[in-house]
Amino acid sequence: MKITYLGHSCIYIETAGSKLIVDPFISGNELASTVAIDEIEVDYILLTHGHQDHVLDAERIAKNNKDATIISNFEIANWYEAKGCSAIGMNLGGQLNFPFGTLKYVVAIHSSTLPDGTPGGNPGGFVLYNDEACIYIAGDTALTIDMQLIPQLCPKVNLAILPVGDFFTMGYKDACIASDFVECDHVLGCHLDSFPPIEIDHSEAIDYFETKGKKLSLLRVTETLEVWK
Ligand code: NI
Ligand code: MN
Repeated sequence: MKITYLGHSCIYIETAGSKLIVDPFISGNELASTVAIDEIEVDYILLTHGHQDHVLDAERIAKNNKDATIISNFEIANWYEAKGCSAIGMNLGGQLNFPFGTLKYVVAIHSSTLPDGTPGGNPGGFVLYNDEACIYIAGDTALTIDMQLIPQLCPKVNLAILPVGDFFTMGYKDACIASDFVECDHVLGCHLDSFPPIEIDHSEAIDYFETKGKKLSLLRVTETLEVWK
């Protein structure tokens, strides 16, 4: 499974012959100005919740990729269907099989209003697994004990993609505890540096994980990571 970081919480995933993008926030992110947004090829667009810094470019990418399907919660899927996009609306605890693998929509503790003020349902995260790997995409969330259910319900998590920027979500110390809860010692940090309140000291955060015997990856925009079972 190939993971490319596109800034903020936007992750591009190539796996099992499919291309996915999670939480596209590119045109509004100065740190992602090198990303050629209209050249992004995707089959699926995963949206963890309705906030602008997660959905900003979803419609644009969906319309550039005629066959792309948006996958989110019920309310967000309805909002995109009304805009002419094809969308699948899951809800918390639900699991569905796709050509790229199995996706489970899991609890996140956050909020989820859509950019025009429409209620975006409950925020969530995704666990995505197939024969290549299992990854947990937390979305925006506080640390929550619900994360302890993930290793009971899903295969061994090989990479946990967790917010580390604090202020709007958990910070890196809470993310380190989250990695215990999901029983995965490799964390890809996201939701950092895009705005002043969530700028963090990278070496301090990486060192903190090291002292706990864990690995925190903080990728540059367009940098890639491979994850395998
Ligand atoms: Ni949010
Ligand atoms: Mn956010």
